[in-house]
Amino acid sequence: MPRLHVNIDHVATLRQARRESFPDPVAWALAAERAGAQGITAHLRMDRRHIQDDDVKRLRRSLRTRLNFEMSLEADIVAIALRTRPEAVCIVPENRAEVTTEGGLDAVREARRLARVVPRLVRAGAEVSLFVDPDTRQIEAACAAGAEFVELHTGAYARATGRARAKELARLAEAALHARAIGLRVNAGHGLDYDNVAAVAALPHVEELNIGFAIVARAVFDGVERAVGEMARLVRGRRARATSSRRAS
Ligand code: PXP
Repeated sequence: MPRLHVNIDHVATLRQARRESFPDPVAWALAAERAGAQGITAHLRMDRRHIQDDDVKRLRRSLRTRLNFEMSLEADIVAIALRTRPEAVCIVPENRAEVTTEGGLDAVREARRLARVVPRLVRAGAEVSLFVDPDTRQIEAACAAGAEFVELHTGAYARATGRARAKELARLAEAALHARAIGLRVNAGHGLDYDNVAAVAALPHVEELNIGFAIVARAVFDGVERAVGEMARLVRGRRARATSSRRAS
């Protein structure tokens, strides 16, 4: 059965929308751990659109489970990963215009940069994973780069419907078997939600699932009655107090 790693980037996106100090993604990560998350994933993007440098430092200090640091191959981000010493890193492609990580890393094209960066991360004690599409060439390139894991991109499976979804699931299963056969360990993630996760959790050899958006989106709805109810009580309480003090004077 795979471990659940919760991606907290979307909580930071909400905070950054108002440049506020809340909601705090680190406090959210700790709550996720209390609820059963077995690891926390955060992506320090080059444009710092959600997770900030200070979040990474605070996560490193406060997590009780494992920190999986999602990162590009840019030199300053690699330097932060080396200083932070996360238990795991996941190398992803990064494009400034994208809304989220869109495709898998092109490990074939990035072979030279990977050959420089992966051994440094391994020496720093990180389990290194490459986020790749379920594609034989990419999986073999990840192995050649010295990565211990591939994280299989489940986005195409998650977006597909009907027979196309069954085909994407079969592609993921084949990719997981091939990765394991050549000595890689296997994680998976992207676009997983409450309806589509079970089939991916049942794939062979998958050790960890990274899930973010669907959990944050569900939490927004699950919290609505409590959040609105508490504010309504405060608003009513203030009015009731104001009315009774006017009466008394
Ligand atoms: N894995 C990787 C490598 C990702 O880039 C992302 C998105 O940040 C996820 C998993 C989680 O995807 P989602 O937010 O769609 O659950």
